[in-house]
Amino acid sequence: MPPSLWPDSPQGFNVTNARFAWKLRDARLGAAQTSRHIQVVRVDDTSIPQANAFAGEPVWDSGEVFSTDSLYVPYEGPPLEPHTRYHWRVRIRDHKGHLLPWSSAAWFETAFAEPSPNWPATGWVTANDSDNPQCPHLRKTFTLAARPRSARLYITARGLFEARLNGGRVGEDLLTPGWTDYTRRIEYLTYDVTANLSTGPNTLGVILADGWYAGHLGWNAATPNRHYGPKPALLAVLRIVGQDGSVRWIGTDESWQTACGPLISADLYHGEHYDARRELPGWCDAPPHLCGTWQPAVPIEFPAVELNARELSSVRQHEETPPVSMRTPSPGRCIIDFGQNLIGVIRLRITALAGTKITLRHAEMVQNDGELYTANLRSARATDIYVCCGGGRAEIFQPRFTFHGFRYVEISGLTAPLQSDDVRAVVLHTGMTPTGTFETSNPLLNQLQSCIRWGQRSNFLEVPTDCPQRDERLGWTGDAQVFIPTATFNYDVAPFYRKWLRDLTDAQRADGAFPDVAPDLLKLMYGPDRRTGNAAWADAGVICPWVLYQRYGDTDVLARNYSAMTRWIDYQESTSCNHIRPATSFGDWLALDGGPSPSGSLTPGELIGTAYFAHTTGIMAQVASLLGHTAESLRFAALRHHIVTAFNRRFVATDVRLTSDTQTAYLLALAFDLLPEASRPTAVAHLERTLKRHHYHLATGFVGTPLLAPVLTRFGRLDLAYRLLQNKTYPSWLFPVANGATTMWERWNSWTPDDGFGDVNMNSFNHYAYGSIGDWMYRTVGGLDLSEPGYRRLLLRPRPGGGLTSAAASLDTPYGLASSAWHQTATGLEWNILVPPNTTALLFPPARSLNEVRVDGLAWDDHCGIQFMEPQEQEPVLACVAGSYRLHIAPPENSINSGTNETSITPQPIANFSR
Ligand code: BGC
Repeated sequence: MPPSLWPDSPQGFNVTNARFAWKLRDARLGAAQTSRHIQVVRVDDTSIPQANAFAGEPVWDSGEVFSTDSLYVPYEGPPLEPHTRYHWRVRIRDHKGHLLPWSSAAWFETAFAEPSPNWPATGWVTANDSDNPQCPHLRKTFTLAARPRSARLYITARGLFEARLNGGRVGEDLLTPGWTDYTRRIEYLTYDVTANLSTGPNTLGVILADGWYAGHLGWNAATPNRHYGPKPALLAVLRIVGQDGSVRWIGTDESWQTACGPLISADLYHGEHYDARRELPGWCDAPPHLCGTWQPAVPIEFPAVELNARELSSVRQHEETPPVSMRTPSPGRCIIDFGQNLIGVIRLRITALAGTKITLRHAEMVQNDGELYTANLRSARATDIYVCCGGGRAEIFQPRFTFHGFRYVEISGLTAPLQSDDVRAVVLHTGMTPTGTFETSNPLLNQLQSCIRWGQRSNFLEVPTDCPQRDERLGWTGDAQVFIPTATFNYDVAPFYRKWLRDLTDAQRADGAFPDVAPDLLKLMYGPDRRTGNAAWADAGVICPWVLYQRYGDTDVLARNYSAMTRWIDYQESTSCNHIRPATSFGDWLALDGGPSPSGSLTPGELIGTAYFAHTTGIMAQVASLLGHTAESLRFAALRHHIVTAFNRRFVATDVRLTSDTQTAYLLALAFDLLPEASRPTAVAHLERTLKRHHYHLATGFVGTPLLAPVLTRFGRLDLAYRLLQNKTYPSWLFPVANGATTMWERWNSWTPDDGFGDVNMNSFNHYAYGSIGDWMYRTVGGLDLSEPGYRRLLLRPRPGGGLTSAAASLDTPYGLASSAWHQTATGLEWNILVPPNTTALLFPPARSLNEVRVDGLAWDDHCGIQFMEPQEQEPVLACVAGSYRLHIAPPENSINSGTNETSITPQPIANFSR
């Protein structure tokens, strides 16, 4: 039962907020925790094996606490000390009252105590202007009299950095320190470099690039726009602990040297230009070789910002994809298809004469003539250039300070044919643990799931972006909020969104309006007066923390964001007219209901805004109550009531028609419970009418699309939900899939057989927003849902339909692996479920009566893990404790005695179950 703490054994931890979580690995029926006991020890010598560390006195011993909690248990010992490693372990008592053995140990290490802008002996430095270097190399050589006991590098940049120590790369992170609003906070990384140092001379070297800080960002990226600052700068310090415990700090200052190297330019949008003839061999060896012209680094002052220890994984290199086809349309030019639209860079192996210039252009699609389609990249050049140094040896080029969204690459300037082994597409994105799987008997749906997953991977780079390829790649809030439920199934995105919520609250305006993008680049592009607070976009500020709480069970995310969330509601209240929101910018973005371009939406902003105002206020009533703010909760509930009344008065006619008779209008009214109970069936009939008008096809945009299948399912039209999902004709989710899509498209008509490529001004082939259907696929088709936050209690309720003969969903929940997999057999339906330790589940077997249900070969009521529950909406319901179960559901006609004899069943409290 090893505990798990995210990230595993984190280094450079914020000292104030240690919390512990562990997963019980126990396959026994009803496995659960009844008590917990945590011990934390301080480790002065990190070479001590973890198991021995507990021989000493713990700094905190919680003692045995009778509690079932295994998530986010706060450290309650004396204050943690900075720059210190702690080991911890946990022991639990199980559901039978037995104490289990201690877990293996995990560790964490603290960094600086405060998010203070000042580090010892360290200041920001940059390169000398006379060099006008784009990607300067900086270095410092120092001498150690003896090998240290331990050494840590704390490092960050305005821009991007790659660090080296004595010639070797430090860590595997890329595009560090990532993107935040650099005017407010910058994250730093911590590396254990003890093993990299040696007695005598040592050299720490760093290469800097513009990145988000000083590179192109935002559309119209033709000229350098350097939104945060004119050029990159570095802040780094080595903390070296000698064998005698003495501490030495070696930080960036004017004693560092800078020089130009082979990187002529590097830009996130435009690509990297590398001239291998200008390499500086041995420039950061110990001692460095004589190469290049070095000048003193220039100290530089900035207004103080918070320096925060990074708490999520950085961008990393993931798998490598080989070409699926290579063509040579003209001599020296090769077009390669990797078979998958993705995000990353190319790794190229090339042997050519010195000065040979190789150009790599990236694209998501090819035209009819087989040439790259790059018009949709707008001003992003997405072009890497490599100039060979020659010498007869194979050279490897892999850009390190850029990324591209592409499936195809054109490589030109070749003097000899390329072999397939010479090229790889290297996938890059923020490190996230995969958590979910989803599969059905329909290969097209499986490909849709693959598109959604790749859409997520391609857009989870530092912030949740709209797209990874054109001159945009921004943290659009609307896209993020519609996709977050799906995102939580495919990967563990809690750390990623927690960081982004910080970006979002950093970007919140003083009046409470949340921005359209976070970090708020649009404020830098258009000034602080640009309109924000747009419906369904700004609402991300309330919806994202709420979804995170639901899916991960962590109230801390609500507590941290509570005041920002409240300010957004207050802003809406103060800028509404009789609780009706004013029209806002984006409508039902890219809907197909005939509205004006580019949003395409007929559903008015006032309706969308007022619906979301009610929705987010309703969420806040729950959040406030959860956090114990009772008066606030009542205030939000009353406010929601007024908004709902105003909504009905303004937008709903007596025959329950909405003033804008669109799919999205009915979806919002139904999804957010804005209509009186009695009117809802009529609204569903109107919704069906609007679908019929579109030949049972969707016409929704970013706002309506995520609601389609859930609303139809909830209001008894599962048949229609499946019908929409399985449409292959335009517009539908499967239309792109049937036309070869490998990622989600931005528009329903990003490409059509009749019109070819869609509106070039905004046409990405890798936009995750319409992938928001993924949440419904896991929850409804697979049947894997939750009834208590964090999956403490699961809700397993598959809804077979749409001609599917099988579906399977699995999720590594915060408590462990859960799954729900069903398939049709000759004798009925077999449903296999897995309920993780320390959780329970509500089961909705897809049966009309419990008489049809057998569990593990037994009548369900003979199974000691299963309990009867009151039927809901005439559907039979059971409950179960942790364990794995095989249910068999006979078709209704086979069931003996379709009348129910449920009255003879005596429900047992779950906690008493045992074998
Ligand atoms: C982005 C969208 C975004 C929208 C807002 C676009 O340029 O790509 O995904 O939500 O603008 O209007």
